[in-house]
Amino acid sequence: MNAERPLIITIDGPGASGKSSVARRIAQALTVPYISSGLLYRAATYQALHHGVDPDDEAALLELLEKHPLRLDPGTGGNRVYSGNEDLTPRLHTAEVDATVSAVARHPRVREYVNDRLREVPPPFVVEGRDMGTAVFPHATHKFYLTASPEVRARRRARERSDNLAAIEKMLRLRDERDAKQSRPAPDAQVIDTSNLTLDQVVGAIMRYLPAGTGE
Ligand code: DC
Repeated sequence: MNAERPLIITIDGPGASGKSSVARRIAQALTVPYISSGLLYRAATYQALHHGVDPDDEAALLELLEKHPLRLDPGTGGNRVYSGNEDLTPRLHTAEVDATVSAVARHPRVREYVNDRLREVPPPFVVEGRDMGTAVFPHATHKFYLTASPEVRARRRARERSDNLAAIEKMLRLRDERDAKQSRPAPDAQVIDTSNLTLDQVVGAIMRYLPAGTGE
Protein backbone atom coordinates (compact mmCIF):
# COMPACT_ATOMS: atom_id res chain seq x y z
CA MET A 1 0.00 0.00 0.00
CA ASN A 2 1.07 3.58 -0.63
CA ALA A 3 2.36 4.80 2.74
CA GLU A 4 1.44 8.40 1.88
CA ARG A 5 -2.26 7.63 1.64
CA PRO A 6 -3.97 7.78 5.05
CA LEU A 7 -5.92 4.66 5.94
CA ILE A 8 -9.59 4.93 4.91
CA ILE A 9 -11.56 1.68 4.83
CA THR A 10 -15.03 1.90 3.27
CA ILE A 11 -17.69 -0.70 4.00
CA ASP A 12 -20.84 -0.24 1.91
CA GLY A 13 -23.93 -2.34 1.41
CA PRO A 14 -27.71 -2.46 1.74
CA GLY A 15 -29.65 -2.13 5.01
CA ALA A 16 -29.02 -4.88 7.59
CA SER A 17 -26.19 -6.42 5.51
CA GLY A 18 -24.04 -6.33 8.64
CA LYS A 19 -22.03 -3.22 7.76
CA SER A 20 -22.25 -1.50 11.14
CA SER A 21 -21.23 -4.51 13.23
CA VAL A 22 -18.45 -5.40 10.81
CA ALA A 23 -17.17 -1.81 10.52
CA ARG A 24 -17.13 -1.47 14.31
CA ARG A 25 -15.18 -4.70 14.73
CA ILE A 26 -12.62 -3.80 12.04
CA ALA A 27 -12.16 -0.36 13.60
CA GLN A 28 -11.64 -1.92 17.04
CA ALA A 29 -9.10 -4.36 15.66
CA LEU A 30 -7.17 -1.51 14.02
CA THR A 31 -7.77 0.92 16.94
CA VAL A 32 -9.08 3.60 14.61
CA PRO A 33 -12.46 5.41 14.75
CA TYR A 34 -15.54 3.97 13.09
CA ILE A 35 -18.03 6.23 11.29
CA SER A 36 -21.65 5.48 10.41
CA SER A 37 -22.84 7.71 7.55
CA GLY A 38 -26.39 6.31 7.80
CA LEU A 39 -26.66 7.78 11.27
CA LEU A 40 -26.35 11.31 9.82
CA TYR A 41 -29.13 10.59 7.30
CA ARG A 42 -31.20 9.17 10.15
CA ALA A 43 -30.55 12.30 12.26
CA ALA A 44 -31.59 14.61 9.38
CA THR A 45 -34.76 12.52 9.05
CA TYR A 46 -35.50 12.60 12.76
CA GLN A 47 -35.12 16.38 12.75
CA ALA A 48 -37.51 16.71 9.79
CA LEU A 49 -40.12 14.55 11.53
CA HIS A 50 -39.61 16.34 14.85
CA HIS A 51 -39.85 19.86 13.40
CA GLY A 52 -42.65 19.04 10.95
CA VAL A 53 -40.56 19.60 7.81
CA ASP A 54 -41.75 17.89 4.60
CA PRO A 55 -39.18 15.15 3.70
CA ASP A 56 -39.77 15.95 0.00
CA ASP A 57 -38.88 19.64 0.41
CA GLU A 58 -35.13 19.86 -0.19
CA ALA A 59 -34.84 23.62 0.48
CA ALA A 60 -36.74 23.33 3.77
CA LEU A 61 -34.55 20.39 4.85
CA LEU A 62 -31.39 22.40 4.14
CA GLU A 63 -32.75 25.36 6.06
CA LEU A 64 -33.47 23.06 9.00
CA LEU A 65 -29.95 21.57 8.88
CA GLU A 66 -28.40 25.02 8.75
CA LYS A 67 -30.50 26.22 11.68
CA HIS A 68 -29.85 23.03 13.71
CA PRO A 69 -26.49 21.69 12.51
CA LEU A 70 -25.68 18.05 13.12
CA ARG A 71 -22.47 17.02 14.81
CA LEU A 72 -21.11 13.50 14.50
CA ASP A 73 -19.00 12.15 17.35
CA PRO A 74 -17.25 8.97 16.11
CA GLY A 75 -16.37 7.91 19.72
CA THR A 76 -14.93 4.53 20.61
CA GLY A 77 -18.13 3.16 22.16
CA GLY A 78 -20.19 3.83 19.01
CA ASN A 79 -21.20 6.86 16.99
CA ARG A 80 -23.37 9.58 18.46
CA VAL A 81 -25.09 12.43 16.62
CA TYR A 82 -25.87 15.72 18.35
CA SER A 83 -27.96 18.72 17.46
CA GLY A 84 -26.57 21.44 19.72
CA ASN A 85 -26.22 19.71 23.10
CA GLU A 86 -29.02 17.28 22.39
CA ASP A 87 -27.98 13.67 21.78
CA LEU A 88 -30.31 12.38 19.03
CA THR A 89 -28.73 8.91 18.86
CA PRO A 90 -31.30 6.92 20.90
CA ARG A 91 -34.12 8.17 18.60
CA LEU A 92 -32.61 7.21 15.26
CA HIS A 93 -33.36 3.48 14.96
CA THR A 94 -37.14 3.51 14.87
CA ALA A 95 -39.68 2.30 12.31
CA GLU A 96 -40.71 5.96 11.69
CA VAL A 97 -37.16 6.98 10.78
CA ASP A 98 -36.69 3.77 8.72
CA ALA A 99 -39.82 4.60 6.70
CA THR A 100 -38.80 8.19 5.86
CA VAL A 101 -34.99 8.15 5.65
CA SER A 102 -34.78 7.24 1.93
CA ALA A 103 -36.97 10.24 1.01
CA VAL A 104 -34.62 12.57 2.90
CA ALA A 105 -31.43 10.89 1.64
CA ARG A 106 -32.38 11.19 -2.04
CA HIS A 107 -31.85 14.98 -2.13
CA PRO A 108 -28.45 15.93 -3.62
CA ARG A 109 -27.99 18.88 -1.24
CA VAL A 110 -28.78 16.76 1.80
CA ARG A 111 -26.18 14.27 0.56
CA GLU A 112 -23.69 17.11 0.11
CA TYR A 113 -24.38 18.27 3.69
CA VAL A 114 -23.78 14.76 5.07
CA ASN A 115 -20.70 14.23 2.88
CA ASP A 116 -19.18 17.50 4.09
CA ARG A 117 -19.60 16.36 7.72
CA LEU A 118 -17.93 13.03 6.88
CA ARG A 119 -14.99 14.64 5.08
CA GLU A 120 -14.31 16.79 8.14
CA VAL A 121 -13.22 13.67 10.04
CA PRO A 122 -9.43 13.24 9.92
CA PRO A 123 -8.26 9.77 8.78
CA PRO A 124 -7.45 7.05 9.68
CA PHE A 125 -10.97 5.57 10.05
CA VAL A 126 -13.41 2.90 8.94
CA VAL A 127 -16.60 4.32 7.40
CA GLU A 128 -19.78 2.50 6.46
CA GLY A 129 -22.75 3.43 4.28
CA ARG A 130 -23.98 3.13 0.70
CA ASP A 131 -21.68 5.32 -1.37
CA MET A 132 -18.58 5.70 0.79
CA GLY A 133 -16.29 3.90 -1.71
CA THR A 134 -17.89 5.53 -4.77
CA ALA A 135 -19.00 9.14 -4.16
CA VAL A 136 -17.52 10.19 -0.84
CA PHE A 137 -14.09 8.57 -0.49
CA PRO A 138 -13.20 7.36 -4.00
CA HIS A 139 -9.51 7.39 -2.99
CA ALA A 140 -10.05 5.13 0.04
CA THR A 141 -7.21 2.69 0.57
CA HIS A 142 -9.52 -0.34 1.05
CA LYS A 143 -13.07 -0.83 -0.17
CA PHE A 144 -15.61 -3.51 0.69
CA TYR A 145 -19.24 -4.08 -0.27
CA LEU A 146 -21.33 -6.45 1.85
CA THR A 147 -24.42 -8.15 0.49
CA ALA A 148 -26.90 -10.65 1.96
CA SER A 149 -30.25 -12.01 0.82
CA PRO A 150 -33.33 -9.97 1.83
CA GLU A 151 -34.53 -12.92 4.00
CA VAL A 152 -31.29 -13.03 5.98
CA ARG A 153 -31.22 -9.27 6.38
CA ALA A 154 -34.84 -9.21 7.58
CA ARG A 155 -34.02 -11.86 10.20
CA ARG A 156 -31.04 -9.83 11.40
CA ARG A 157 -33.07 -6.64 11.64
CA ALA A 158 -35.91 -8.45 13.44
CA ARG A 159 -33.52 -8.99 16.34
CA GLU A 160 -33.22 -5.18 16.71
CA ARG A 161 -36.84 -4.16 16.06
CA SER A 162 -40.19 -5.20 17.54
CA ASP A 163 -42.03 -5.39 14.16
CA ASN A 164 -42.84 -8.77 12.63
CA LEU A 165 -40.53 -10.43 10.12
CA ALA A 166 -42.77 -10.00 7.05
CA ALA A 167 -43.20 -6.26 7.72
CA ILE A 168 -39.45 -5.82 8.17
CA GLU A 169 -38.65 -7.69 4.95
CA LYS A 170 -41.19 -5.61 3.02
CA MET A 171 -39.69 -2.38 4.37
CA LEU A 172 -36.12 -3.53 3.59
CA ARG A 173 -37.04 -4.38 -0.02
CA LEU A 174 -38.73 -1.02 -0.40
CA ARG A 175 -35.70 0.77 1.02
CA ASP A 176 -33.39 -1.25 -1.30
CA GLU A 177 -35.38 0.03 -4.28
CA ARG A 178 -35.32 3.63 -3.09
CA ASP A 179 -31.63 3.52 -2.14
CA ALA A 180 -30.54 1.67 -5.31
CA LYS A 181 -29.31 4.83 -7.03
CA GLN A 182 -26.56 5.45 -4.48
CA SER A 183 -26.00 1.88 -3.26
CA ARG A 184 -23.52 0.29 -5.63
CA PRO A 185 -20.17 -1.41 -5.15
CA ALA A 186 -17.18 0.64 -6.25
CA PRO A 187 -15.42 -1.04 -9.22
CA ASP A 188 -12.40 -1.62 -6.97
CA ALA A 189 -14.40 -2.92 -3.96
CA GLN A 190 -14.20 -6.48 -2.67
CA VAL A 191 -17.79 -7.80 -2.67
CA ILE A 192 -18.57 -10.20 0.19
CA ASP A 193 -21.85 -12.12 0.45
CA THR A 194 -22.47 -12.43 4.20
CA SER A 195 -25.67 -14.54 3.96
CA ASN A 196 -23.99 -17.70 5.23
CA LEU A 197 -21.17 -16.16 7.24
CA THR A 198 -20.94 -15.33 10.94
CA LEU A 199 -19.77 -11.90 12.04
CA ASP A 200 -16.36 -13.37 12.93
CA GLN A 201 -16.06 -14.92 9.48
CA VAL A 202 -16.85 -11.62 7.70
CA VAL A 203 -14.36 -9.76 9.90
CA GLY A 204 -11.76 -12.46 9.15
CA ALA A 205 -12.41 -12.23 5.40
CA ILE A 206 -11.90 -8.46 5.45
CA MET A 207 -8.81 -8.58 7.65
CA ARG A 208 -7.14 -10.81 5.07
CA TYR A 209 -7.24 -7.92 2.57
CA LEU A 210 -5.64 -5.45 4.96
CA PRO A 211 -1.87 -5.16 4.99
CA ALA A 212 -0.15 -7.24 7.67
CA GLY A 213 0.61 -5.18 10.74
CA THR A 214 -2.21 -2.66 10.17
CA GLY A 215 -4.08 -4.00 13.15
CA GLU A 216 -1.32 -4.43 15.68
O1 DC B 1 -27.21 2.16 7.02
P1 DC B 1 -28.51 2.66 7.59
O2 DC B 1 -29.65 1.67 7.51
O3 DC B 1 -28.38 3.22 8.96
O4 DC B 1 -28.90 3.89 6.64
C1 DC B 1 -30.10 4.59 6.79
C2 DC B 1 -30.54 5.18 5.45
O5 DC B 1 -29.66 6.23 5.07
C3 DC B 1 -30.63 4.22 4.28
O6 DC B 1 -31.95 3.84 4.03
C4 DC B 1 -30.11 4.98 3.11
C5 DC B 1 -29.45 6.19 3.68
N1 DC B 1 -28.00 6.19 3.43
C6 DC B 1 -27.58 6.69 2.23
O7 DC B 1 -28.40 7.05 1.37
N2 DC B 1 -26.25 6.78 1.99
C7 DC B 1 -25.35 6.38 2.91
N3 DC B 1 -24.05 6.51 2.67
C8 DC B 1 -25.78 5.83 4.14
C9 DC B 1 -27.14 5.74 4.36
